[in-house]
Amino acid sequence: MARPKVLYVCQSCGYQASAWLGRCPECGEWNTLVEELDKKTGGATRQVGLSSGVAPRTMAAIDVQKSPRMATGIGELDRVLGGGLVPGSLVLVGGDPGVGKSTLVLDAAMRISNSGRTVLYVSGEESAEQTKLRALRIGEAGDKLYVLTETNLEVIVRAVEKLNPAIVIIDSIQTMHNPELPTAAGSVGQVRECTARLLRMAKESGPSVIIIGHVTKEGAIAGPRLLEHMVDVVLHFEGDRSYSFRVLRAVKNRFGSTSESGIFSMEENGLTQVANPAGLFLEEHKAAVPGAVVTACLEGTRPILVEIQALVAATPFGMPRRTAVGFDYNRVTMLLAILEKRLGFALGNQDAYVNVVGGMKVTEPAADLAVVTAIVSSFRDQAVPPKTLVLGEVGLTGEVRRVGSLARRIKEARTLGFTRFIVPHSREAELAGQAGIVAVYSVSEALAAIWQS
Ligand SMILES: Nc1ncnc2c1ncn2[C@@H]1O[C@H](COP(=O)(O)OP(=O)(O)OP(=O)(O)O)[C@@H](O)[C@H]1O
Ligand SMILES: [Mg+2]
Repeated sequence: MARPKVLYVCQSCGYQASAWLGRCPECGEWNTLVEELDKKTGGATRQVGLSSGVAPRTMAAIDVQKSPRMATGIGELDRVLGGGLVPGSLVLVGGDPGVGKSTLVLDAAMRISNSGRTVLYVSGEESAEQTKLRALRIGEAGDKLYVLTETNLEVIVRAVEKLNPAIVIIDSIQTMHNPELPTAAGSVGQVRECTARLLRMAKESGPSVIIIGHVTKEGAIAGPRLLEHMVDVVLHFEGDRSYSFRVLRAVKNRFGSTSESGIFSMEENGLTQVANPAGLFLEEHKAAVPGAVVTACLEGTRPILVEIQALVAATPFGMPRRTAVGFDYNRVTMLLAILEKRLGFALGNQDAYVNVVGGMKVTEPAADLAVVTAIVSSFRDQAVPPKTLVLGEVGLTGEVRRVGSLARRIKEARTLGFTRFIVPHSREAELAGQAGIVAVYSVSEALAAIWQS
């Protein structure tokens, strides 16, 4: 068989060249030429969608009973997937090196195989023995879990046709290659071609495919952005290597909400689910220390209580230093400016350090008031009274703005023993008449309320 011809196609204007060029002669863009197989000369078709041999059907005639979701057995993963894996779907799991992607997916594979379904785990990164070692760490694998160490995608597709598994796992897409393309595994063309082949396989013969993808230094899934469009679900597995907790988030989900997240803890015997994460970060919280304030953040739809710490000290140099760990640096400087200008705190000659305890990253403005309170508490060397929760977004004029799901956050804090809640004014009917709620309009009102007694 003659080797199919490879074309180099500009991703920006569609120009086709027979050799790779650094710059497209048509549109003048740099690094936009990507290799593709030429269909005319018999290369595998880059067919991305469904096969065209299917006649149109009326919506009413389509039977959805045939494709129930497959629970993976990991509650937190099912939660993020929207109830389990949809047969014939492609799920992409991305994450930093060593965060635990293989562990998570192998755990799911083992549980699914234990429920009697056939699972094929294809590893292009580790030997079968290494995969077995990881499996031993996690638990028992059923006899329906197959491991294949292979990187040639055509061989994998043939193995899938023979084995007919319910789930195929590809660890990772960057190690897979189509030998018809001249470039190395992991290149844009290879990643795209291999994903397109897997997509075709999934839609034609029905297994769910879980693809593990590497993440670039910038945090995007390595390879073309197109990859994220091709798959049905994109999950991000995140976590700080110095801490054991991990968060699984859905970035895209064609079959469910993307507002859910799964919380795990990395232990010696694999990932443990944290079903009730609200108090996860408060284990070491000691009440009544100047500079420490507890607030409630939303992770997905579940509130998690976090401790925010600040240290304010006179600067030994002319320029005050400001740092923020786990919170947006620019927001800290903005909040400091509000304290200076609107409330008259002389912070111009003070260093300020803000830290979110436990490695959690807080991106919600709902934590603003807690950061402000922590800074003031450290500055005055005056602890916030125990069992006090502080919540609210702070505006530039020093006003305290509303936050979403206030009632849910307060409810969770109450179960953890909090009794006093400094919160923005809200119309949530559920809160009316509840004990311990102090509704405030401004930062100055909030500070006065906190240290009133
Ligand atoms: N014996 C052990 N005890 C506790 N934690 C362990 C142990 N062995 C491995 N780990 C944890 O598992 C992590 C590796 O998990 P895993 O191999 O699933 O990550 P990955 O995301 O697949 O990485 P890669 O990108 O390299 O494929 C390690 O970083 C470590 O935190
Ligand atoms: Mg891995």
